[in-house]
Amino acid sequence: MKAGRIRRDIVSGSSLLAVLLLLTGTARAEDGYRLWLRYDALPSRALRVYRPHVTSVVVEGKSATLDAARAELVEGCAGLLGRSIPSAERIERDGAIVVGTPHSSPLIGGLGWARQLDALGAEGFLIRSVKLKGRAVTVIASKGEAGALYGAFHFLRLMQTLRPVGGLNVSERPRLQIRVLNHWDNLDGTIERGYAGRSLWDWKSLPGRVDPRLRDYARANASIGVNGSVLNNVNASSQSLSDEYIRKTAAIADAFRPYRIRVYLAARFSAPMELGGLKTADPLDAEVAAWWRHKAEEIYKLIPDFGGLLVKANSEGQPGPRTYGRTHAEGANVLASALAPHGGVCIWRAFVYDADKDYDRAAAAYDSLRPSDGRFAPNVLLQVKNGPIDFQPREPFHPLFGAMPKTQMMLEVQVTQEYLGQSNNLVFLAPMWREVLDSDTYAKGAGSTVTRVIDGSLFGQRMTGMAGVANTGSDRNWTGHHFAQSNWYAFGRLAWNPDTPSRQIAGEWAGMTFTHDGAALKTIERVMLGSHEAAVDYMTPLGLHHLMWGGHHYGPAPWWDTEPRADWNPVTYHRADARGVGYDRTASGSNSVRQYHSPARERFSNLETCPEKFLLWFHHVPWDYRVRSGRTLWDELALRYQRGVSWVRWADVSWDSLAGAFDDERHAEVSKKLALQGRDAAWWRDACLLYFQTFSKRQLPPGVERPRMTLEEFKARSLLSN
Ligand code: GCU
Repeated sequence: MKAGRIRRDIVSGSSLLAVLLLLTGTARAEDGYRLWLRYDALPSRALRVYRPHVTSVVVEGKSATLDAARAELVEGCAGLLGRSIPSAERIERDGAIVVGTPHSSPLIGGLGWARQLDALGAEGFLIRSVKLKGRAVTVIASKGEAGALYGAFHFLRLMQTLRPVGGLNVSERPRLQIRVLNHWDNLDGTIERGYAGRSLWDWKSLPGRVDPRLRDYARANASIGVNGSVLNNVNASSQSLSDEYIRKTAAIADAFRPYRIRVYLAARFSAPMELGGLKTADPLDAEVAAWWRHKAEEIYKLIPDFGGLLVKANSEGQPGPRTYGRTHAEGANVLASALAPHGGVCIWRAFVYDADKDYDRAAAAYDSLRPSDGRFAPNVLLQVKNGPIDFQPREPFHPLFGAMPKTQMMLEVQVTQEYLGQSNNLVFLAPMWREVLDSDTYAKGAGSTVTRVIDGSLFGQRMTGMAGVANTGSDRNWTGHHFAQSNWYAFGRLAWNPDTPSRQIAGEWAGMTFTHDGAALKTIERVMLGSHEAAVDYMTPLGLHHLMWGGHHYGPAPWWDTEPRADWNPVTYHRADARGVGYDRTASGSNSVRQYHSPARERFSNLETCPEKFLLWFHHVPWDYRVRSGRTLWDELALRYQRGVSWVRWADVSWDSLAGAFDDERHAEVSKKLALQGRDAAWWRDACLLYFQTFSKRQLPPGVERPRMTLEEFKARSLLSN
């Protein structure tokens, strides 16, 4: 039931029940606003078990972060346990939850845990069931207040997911240091590749008015360990570094600080010219270096914990050091040395490519950045997308991972679903990110996974991190699609621990967000875990990529060849002809496969050993080539498209079976989106197969449904306009 409807009932005095519901606080609009932090009363069997363990919250000391931890625990425990849980000054009974640092809390200071807490760092924490002052209590302790806050959220999650809270001995620390969302938000409130409304930052009314919603944004991030936000688009306006916008940014930083979210800004490389009136932005020019230095001083005066600057340089029309004949390292280092005295970092993006004639875009970043290995300043991190093209439904890992042992590297994934059905398609991205994290680069022999590159264990890099291009916006449910919230959640969990299994992430999120019913949860998990493979099937199976429509990237347009740059046209990537389909990246083609270490290189190069999921990424394959199933490539391609469509139908039916397992509102909204996804999947299948059929000249195999429109009709209409 919607809150608005309840209110009308009250006004008309027609529904006593509605009034009662409202008064008891049980009638909430189930609009998804609360994300996974819902704190509704747990099933009664859980209440009986948990209540004796949670009777009061004791957070000694006072600070914004400790206050946040206390407030979260008091509200969360009360909601989950269906009774008020007092905040107490001292341990008075069994079941106290004692939270803090040895510094803030004499109780915790007296435990003698300093050495263990030191080892876990300021963001790590211990949660232990112990006897203290003669009482059975739970201690959530950390060296730093951030860790205490993370521990509080962890403890709440244990209850939210019906895990034991007695006999606890939990020890956690984040594996990566910089866990940051990248918002591609423009200063006018629009969001590049945003599908959930407008920017959450209301620049116009800042710094005077700070939207209270920002606190909930920060809470949600803190609950999953995200500790940074880059506020503006990587295609940055230099205005974001103006005095006026730094003051606005400072107001946001103040709102985030209790939750230990640092703000970062994306910087336009030519800002010294546009803002400072200099004639050049050449990084080796002394005046340019001084401008960056002064800018950093100005920022840190207002935002002492400012995270740093993120730069997209010499890519897609952005200015950069190459404009002045300088290297990427020279460009990054001028910003890095301005930030260094303040403890800031320069995050330099590796998404760099140029439209030279006859080049392979997949090879560009490696070729232009690798020569700079070992030349970046110690406070520079190179931020590398998961794959070498651009957040496609599936890509092999980026060959830069493992290729620059003397360069600190972090992973960039896209939480917003630019190429994955935007906010209309249910696609749980953890399995896709896992696939990349688990990929073996072979940089130092077998076991040199991407995870081990970015967590610093392979090459010993000092700073580590992971970035996610955010999918949040002003929509009431934050992310457009209720299930897109799970990708925000998954990003945080993987940045905290890149080894977290997808199933665990799906289970936690669905349990906190939808239901505690075991059978219903299983169904939701199955839908989530199958969704990425299905999207690959109905969009770009077998290694196909970049078949999306024009600039908006929604829906299929494999025929597209009118972009001003060849490397923005799908025809560049699938290379279909009478003989076959796929991009030959082996020695007989672009040879970008050379960028991978042996034996990955040989494995990808050989048609027989190349994983089928990357077949058409690395090879131009004849239509009659027999794939592992024994079918011809053409038949396999068609059947994969069909499999994707069939999966969406199955997901739809599975979702229907959940009616009544939780609120009707979200159930109905997801149903509507699944219907759109079914339409999209069929559209993808039909448009792509009809188009490829003009080359293959083969019939669709049995089991593949006949297209509902002609190719000309598909070409005439973008899926978005339907
Ligand atoms: C993609 C996306 C752009 C974005 C770019 C980037 O190409 O379509 O909107 O600017 O990635 O990551 O910089």
